[in-house]
Amino acid sequence: MTKNVNITMIGTGYVGLVSGACFAALGHRVTCIDKDKTKIEKLERAEIPIYEAKLKELVDENLSKKQLFFTTELKAAVDTADVIFVAVGTPSCPVTGKADLQYVEGLARELAPLLQQYKVIVLKSTVPIGTGQRFKKIILQINPSAKFDMVSNPEFLREGSAVKDFMNPDRIVIGSESEPSRQLMNSIYDSFLQQQIPILHTDIESSELIKYAANCFLATKIAFINEIADLCEETEANIESVTKGLGLDKRIGPGYLEPGPGFGGSCFPKDTLALIQVAETLASPLSVVESVVQSNENRKKKMIQKILHICGGNILQKRLAILGVAFKANTDDIRESSAMVIIQGLQKLGAKLRIYDPAAMEKAALELPGVEWASTALDAMKEAEVVVIITEWQEFKNLKFNHFKNANKKPIVIDLRNLYDLNEMQKLGISYHSIGRPAVRNLVDIPVPVEG
Ligand code: UGA
Repeated sequence: MTKNVNITMIGTGYVGLVSGACFAALGHRVTCIDKDKTKIEKLERAEIPIYEAKLKELVDENLSKKQLFFTTELKAAVDTADVIFVAVGTPSCPVTGKADLQYVEGLARELAPLLQQYKVIVLKSTVPIGTGQRFKKIILQINPSAKFDMVSNPEFLREGSAVKDFMNPDRIVIGSESEPSRQLMNSIYDSFLQQQIPILHTDIESSELIKYAANCFLATKIAFINEIADLCEETEANIESVTKGLGLDKRIGPGYLEPGPGFGGSCFPKDTLALIQVAETLASPLSVVESVVQSNENRKKKMIQKILHICGGNILQKRLAILGVAFKANTDDIRESSAMVIIQGLQKLGAKLRIYDPAAMEKAALELPGVEWASTALDAMKEAEVVVIITEWQEFKNLKFNHFKNANKKPIVIDLRNLYDLNEMQKLGISYHSIGRPAVRNLVDIPVPVEG
């Protein structure tokens, strides 16, 4: 079995760059290609365009070992490759929510005349069911004698833990149509095979659907637990016990049951919409996923109402500290971040916001005029009447609020990620509101919430 494969990775976005660097670390010879010349020049100097733990070290190391290369020259990169991975973007169409396949299909047209010798072409981008076959058709229309096999091999890594996720997968999914392509894919993932990590071989369409179904299912779990957390708030139940009790059931599992301000990022919002679109086109509607999308949209508005309600129904000119703008911790990504929607909503209601995020402020500042930016979490909280935590950064978890212990005026803390212990907040005498857990009330300085 071939162990070291010549891989060309087309597209140096999140998935392409991380996968390319990780394949190089697994011992393959990887050439990453992108049209953006400046980006490629930076990558050649190991300057990483995204905020991702361990990625710089990996790129640095494999550049010096000459396992990893960056280029803008498609033809040369195709000629030297055994396997060509496609990891170009598939953004949502802003009107329909449909996956925009212009980059994927454009690439098929570019690759077609270059396929003189046998290659395996692997779609790693998240693409609607049928895209692999369509890619093949486009190539064969342009170059009927092109020698290649199509494969689908979706990626399941998460931003913020991308390298770790890539190197420790739960499973590898490979959709293919020929024995040579299956063998070559097994060679690429040989070290995972040795570690007994399950490799699922299937057809291309099933592989494409597995990726969407996985993201939609995880999004469903989150939307579900968010609504259960709401129910907890209306009763004496505590969401922490509820999720523990649910998660211990092996059929349910403990993951993706953390309630919060609603899911965001570049994947769940986009992929739920895209699958709904595919299903609608095929007259096989996904009403569950449709409800998930709606529930998640409502969630962000609900969070704004929750904050308003806790503040007594009026936040005009109220000083609020906001901790977190990224869509989750360990990333500077603000795409579809619930924090952005909540902040804009609070701004509209006239609140004076002072915001801090360890990594995402630069990006957020471009979209949030009229807010103050703080240099630390403590700086954001200075003089705040209310502190709202939206992203679950470790540095926020480490905040002890001890300095408020003997303060005359303590802020109300509204924690949309359940980061703190209820008893600790009680001891500090801080009014503390979280998600799906009983509120801790400090009777001295809380405005009485209005009903409704
Ligand atoms: C997601 C999937 O988890 C990856 O498996 C997949 O490869 C990726 O999309 C993709 O398709 O490329 P990612 O978007 O990086 O990864 O983020 P997640 O860590 O899954 O979180 C998504 C959102 O759900 C975040 O807003 C997060 O705060 C929220 N979330 C997550 C919760 O509210 N509760 C949870 O229990 C888990």
